[in-house]
Amino acid sequence: MDNNRIINIAIDGPAGAGKSTIAKRVAKELGCIYVDTGAMYRAMALFLLRSGIAADDADAISRKCREADISISFENGEQVVTLNGENVNAYLRTEEVGNMASASSVNGDVREKLVELQQALGKKTSVVMDGRDIGTVVLPDAQVKIYLTAGVEVRAMRRYKEYLEKGEPADLAAIEEQIRERDWRDMHRDISPLRKADDAVEVDSSDLNIEETLEKILAIVEEKISGMN
Ligand code: DC
Repeated sequence: MDNNRIINIAIDGPAGAGKSTIAKRVAKELGCIYVDTGAMYRAMALFLLRSGIAADDADAISRKCREADISISFENGEQVVTLNGENVNAYLRTEEVGNMASASSVNGDVREKLVELQQALGKKTSVVMDGRDIGTVVLPDAQVKIYLTAGVEVRAMRRYKEYLEKGEPADLAAIEEQIRERDWRDMHRDISPLRKADDAVEVDSSDLNIEETLEKILAIVEEKISGMN
């Protein structure tokens, strides 16, 4: 990759499609930074949960979100999310935080604050950024846009296995139900709903393993980038 040129790669899709695993690997292959925007929404959700704000209290969320100072930095290429001075990486990947992130990310004030931060990163450096609205809103001029999907049952099973591998209890039916709810909320919210950008390439990973998905996406990235020369 030409090191002088800033390359932006957007990967969007529903919860559990494998976006972060794939985006991380693509970033490594290309030698650029991986930005997990979901983690920023999760950090905001953690802040709101700790503040005792209810997921459906839009006014309180709008007021309180101003007090959250969220920043991201990179240590050895890994993203560190800082919330009011505290590294909160370890607290972000629970279902409770994920569900609150889905609920609070419908709020325009929350989105405005985090989108600004994400856009600044994409301007400054080459990034692979994953989320829900990256190709449509955050980086509309990204050179490569991928929409990564998989069937609900497949995504629920992947999450279920992740919990078991971590030795945590999990209920497959409950996970599937939560994924359905999150999909619906992420796709039907008024501001920046999850949708495939018109110029995004859709990849369905239902029948692909990680390596196969990565291979497919890298081929798309290479084709797009080489076409730019
Ligand atoms: O990708 P994730 O599961 O970590 O995201 C958590 C929630 O954050 C997701 O349900 C919707 C929200 N989100 C968003 O609205 N926009 C993004 N760019 C990324 C995540």
